[in-house]
Amino acid sequence: MANIWARKSIDQLKKEAGASESGFKRTLGPLNLINLGIGAIIGTGIFVLTGQVAADNAGPGLVISFIISGLACAFAGLCYAEFASMIPIAGSAYTYSYATLGELFAWIIGWDLIIEYLFAASTVAVGWSGYVVAFLTNFLKIPLPPELIASTGTKLIKVPPIPGGRIIEGWAPISDGLLKTITEAGLTPDKLPHATSLFNLPAVLIIAVITLLLIWGVQESTRFNNVVVVIKMTVVLAFIGFGVFYINRANWTPFIPPNTGNFGEFGWSGVLRGAGVIFFAYIGFDAVSTAAQEAKNPQRDLPIGILGSLVVCTVLYIAVALVLTGVMKYTSFKGIAHPVAFAVESIPQLKWLAPFVELGAIAGLSSVMLVMLMGQPRIFYTMANDGLLPPFFAKMHPKFGTPYVASIITGVVAMVLAGTVPLSILGELVSIGTLLAFTLVCGAVIVLRRTEPNLPRPFKTPLVPLIPILGILTCGAQMLGLGLDTWIRLFVWLGLGFLIYFLYGIKRSKVQERLTAKES
Ligand code: ALA
Repeated sequence: MANIWARKSIDQLKKEAGASESGFKRTLGPLNLINLGIGAIIGTGIFVLTGQVAADNAGPGLVISFIISGLACAFAGLCYAEFASMIPIAGSAYTYSYATLGELFAWIIGWDLIIEYLFAASTVAVGWSGYVVAFLTNFLKIPLPPELIASTGTKLIKVPPIPGGRIIEGWAPISDGLLKTITEAGLTPDKLPHATSLFNLPAVLIIAVITLLLIWGVQESTRFNNVVVVIKMTVVLAFIGFGVFYINRANWTPFIPPNTGNFGEFGWSGVLRGAGVIFFAYIGFDAVSTAAQEAKNPQRDLPIGILGSLVVCTVLYIAVALVLTGVMKYTSFKGIAHPVAFAVESIPQLKWLAPFVELGAIAGLSSVMLVMLMGQPRIFYTMANDGLLPPFFAKMHPKFGTPYVASIITGVVAMVLAGTVPLSILGELVSIGTLLAFTLVCGAVIVLRRTEPNLPRPFKTPLVPLIPILGILTCGAQMLGLGLDTWIRLFVWLGLGFLIYFLYGIKRSKVQERLTAKES
């Protein structure tokens, strides 16, 4: 009988961490790792979702949603940092589970991480495409055919220029918010041109380009990431720095608008639902751990990268939320997919900043995809080395030193998803998948402290078991706040994972092989 609870010993894992036999090149220092984290974190969440949460769930209480979600991430981040310093292997939560909870859990978590990384890359590609299409249409006056700008089957409407500078001119997906805005501008939606999209071409193209860059080399990719991080930080800081002078305190009253009677629509329940949605904005700090085998001094620098990027982004997020809800009434963001650019557009003295914000968002979203598409093949690589995936997933490029086959497979699947599946379905699935991984990593810290109390831990999560338990509770609560459809999709995905494990991985696992060899 195969041992589905087989664990990998930390000694074995440490041996595997030696870069010489893995083919990875150790090129990343602490600053690169913090940048990698920031590169993965600041993206769709801040540039797209903030407006939605302010208008639909929390009002200025968006700030509190950011604090709640940030706390959950801080607890999880501290747990990730302990593992990353102790087991610096590219597999991230997959590897940590292998050492603590056994092979079946490790496989399931590895399978779940596909949702966090691969699906997240596709989600962000869809957001990126929205920004690019808006930028080409509004600022460069280059129209794109509506059939090629959104997910398969998306119904679009052509919005004419609306006085007052709203950045929704051109083809846009039909939503209640948009129809309301059009009607309020005195137009009749039925009289405007309509179209149905075939697939999202810009989203597919950007994933193809980033996949090629990643195959070329991790050093080249991180150089690109460093430049992009500087651009997006400048834009975010400019928004905060200039915007702060146009805050009208009246916009912050009431800070938490009264609940409408429905759970999640304003009031404290709205703030909580908002935290669940805005959680997406923080996803990415854990991606630093997937670069473990490319870090020069992983045991010291991975905790710095994970926690450093998380702290920087949390501070920026809270400041952006304060300025955003301070310069405009939260109700103005209804149906607006570019809230940050929209806010500066509406302040006459800051109009000049709008194209820069758009460009910053486009650049910013590219680096999120870059880090996600970099993390996924490295997790596949580790799983293939353990025998749970076919060996070609672990094939390294002889010249570039990158797991190129896994990168190509990741890129192609991400392209198909980005081209055909809408943002709303992908986004919540990514959040629930990531929250599940965070919850398990928090639990695994408690387990390993019991089973292997004497292992050297270069970074120790403080106040164990309190911090991991708080992590489990806060992440678990956010999972409960997500919709039933999302839960069903998660279970279907995990069920598929079980099937693949029992049909393939269990028979080919190298850990099982070693155990059998020892016994005979
Ligand atoms: N945190 C990343 C974003 O907001 C995934 O785009």
